[in-house]
Amino acid sequence: MAVAELTAPTCPKQGLSSAQLSYLSARASRSRRLSFRPLRRTHGSRISCSVNQTAQAQAPAAVQPEVPKSSKPKPECFGVFCLTYDLKAEEETKSWKKLINVAVSGAAGMISNHLLFKLASGQVFGPDQPIALKLLGSERSFQALEGVAMELEDSLFPLLREVQISIDPYEVFQDVEWALLIGAKPRGPGMERAGLLDINGQIFAEQGKALNAVASRNVKVIVVGNPCNTNALICLKNAPNIPAKNFHALTRLDENRAKCQLALKAGAFYDKVSNVTIWGNHSTTQVPDFLNARINGLPVKEVITDPKWLEEEFTEKVQNRGGVLIKKWGRSSAASTAVSIADAMKSLVTPTPEGDWFSSGVYTDGNPYGIAEGIVFSMPCRSKGDGDYELVKDVIFDDYLLKRITKTEAELLAERRCVAHLIGGGVAFCDLPEDTMLPGEM
Ligand code: LMR
Repeated sequence: MAVAELTAPTCPKQGLSSAQLSYLSARASRSRRLSFRPLRRTHGSRISCSVNQTAQAQAPAAVQPEVPKSSKPKPECFGVFCLTYDLKAEEETKSWKKLINVAVSGAAGMISNHLLFKLASGQVFGPDQPIALKLLGSERSFQALEGVAMELEDSLFPLLREVQISIDPYEVFQDVEWALLIGAKPRGPGMERAGLLDINGQIFAEQGKALNAVASRNVKVIVVGNPCNTNALICLKNAPNIPAKNFHALTRLDENRAKCQLALKAGAFYDKVSNVTIWGNHSTTQVPDFLNARINGLPVKEVITDPKWLEEEFTEKVQNRGGVLIKKWGRSSAASTAVSIADAMKSLVTPTPEGDWFSSGVYTDGNPYGIAEGIVFSMPCRSKGDGDYELVKDVIFDDYLLKRITKTEAELLAERRCVAHLIGGGVAFCDLPEDTMLPGEM
């Protein structure tokens, strides 16, 4: 079914006051699009249910639905978002923060199905942060997107003030402060890795352009869709007006996996494991760093005195965890990936604990480790909790670590050559190392 054929919801337009929750009809938003943004693509279908912007500092706690008899919400409308409420009675939440806009691509997929409910319940931004969720899907997934939106409304999240669904990134990314780019095409049977890089690269080039055109100038972008490092590079290269520093490739899942394995081996609970870096690519060449990692504040090598296990078993277990999981589940990790996205976001919006750090795939320009510039490489970061981060300088290297880092760096440089046509780098030349694989390709 073509998305353009879908009927827009016809929720009642109600008188808006500063203390009322309201619904923006899709019809109204469509006419705004036509009037003010004529250069954009117009094929997207969008449903939007939202809180009156002037009322966003208050909660819909004192629920007194006022549904005008003449204009009962139609079934397509997102139930609670179509009603009006007296918000004035709610005194406790006057300190709520300004609404935050979060876009999620691949929003009808399994990862998003876990993540969206964490976001909407306040697990990432806290219990005083109202949120608008802008869900990006495809024509094929549009009905599923509506299902996701229905489940969100049925969850009665007080912090969830707006839900939009669309297949047009230019709509979904409008003014967003966060973009979580989860959707990507999986590698199909017989597809060359170069083909995967190209197909997904086209998607991320388009999304980069859309972010560049309409997102908040300080948007934070977390790329999850694989191959996430190079997808993030393509995205940032197509968004020149957004700081390259704001783009992340998700390697927090790998960090979490490494912490779990170290904890298991040491017989310690995993909250005692700190300073774990994943270096490089989210692929089987990634380097889980046990040289700088600590358990109970002690260097891992003092706690786990088995270098062979660290260099071989531990390293391979982390590198291949995604693939092993796919064999068990029959599909990619979803819940733990969603948890790690939430962790990655929390790491940017809360100060990093003293002496610790977290891993993220970030742009290498200006890095202090001598890693080639112009790629997205997972490195150790610290944040003051303002959404920004600094690379950690006080890390040590040995020959083993440097050799492994060089290998994953070479892989990312090869991936970059393969997508040169998508990043303004001229003609692409694909000479990927043969053993290059995503964790899930094992
Ligand atoms: C994972 O690490 O679990 C995934 O990236 C695996 C995959 O290729 O989907």
